Amino acid sequence: MNITTFTLEQLLHKVAQDFYDYSEQNDKIIHIAVSGGNTPKKFFKAIKDYPIKWKNIHLWWVDDRLVPVDSVESNYGEAKRILLDYIAIPESNVHRIVGEATNYIIEASRYSSEIMENVPLDAENCPVFDWVILGMGADGHTASLFPGKIDLTETKFAIVAQHPETAQYRISLSAPAIMHAKRVTFIVTGADKHDMLTKIKNKTITVPAGLVKSILGKTEWFVDEAAASGITKN
Ligand code: 6PG
Repeated sequence: MNITTFTLEQLLHKVAQDFYDYSEQNDKIIHIAVSGGNTPKKFFKAIKDYPIKWKNIHLWWVDDRLVPVDSVESNYGEAKRILLDYIAIPESNVHRIVGEATNYIIEASRYSSEIMENVPLDAENCPVFDWVILGMGADGHTASLFPGKIDLTETKFAIVAQHPETAQYRISLSAPAIMHAKRVTFIVTGADKHDMLTKIKNKTITVPAGLVKSILGKTEWFVDEAAASGITKN
């Protein structure tokens, strides 16, 4: 398991620097999918200050909750409020899941079609994202792929999921859509993730965050000191 431990500050700037580096590749169009939850909000703040060539970056969401954009639960909504409203990214480069959709199955199909129409496809007609940034829940979920609810052979690229505790509906990239990416980076911060991280590292548990990896590319874990040691400094 390719784990790198950073201070939180170093981690956030490493992610921002990588966004910058991707945007500077001779104007090549790059497709990056970001997750929701709290961790991305931290690196969105760091990214905002980097001179990223956003015309070269297409932003996608790994998953989103089926809530209105103005809800703090909205992954897109929070990204908009923290980052998108402050950067010059072409509207056509922002590919959100429509959280206010009333028919979840239709929205999953729509998002899947948008992916197919924009993200380069491989020989198996599967989208190949350049970079998928994942988080990990303390229960070992990633994206909206929850323990016991992950299908590594799913043929759809976007699926309807439901949070096991809150029953909240979500749209998520499927495991195969993530696993065909060139690069999958788990960004895990906080002492509450230490136990699950250790179990995955020691292969003593089978959970989505331990199963999802890039099939042909790079899979890496960027963790902060708290998640690595279980100890919070303050
Ligand atoms: C979501 C995310 C989810 C998240 C993990 C970690 O929409 O909630 O995609 O998979 O990445 O729950 O969340 P934190 O970064 O808040 O710990």
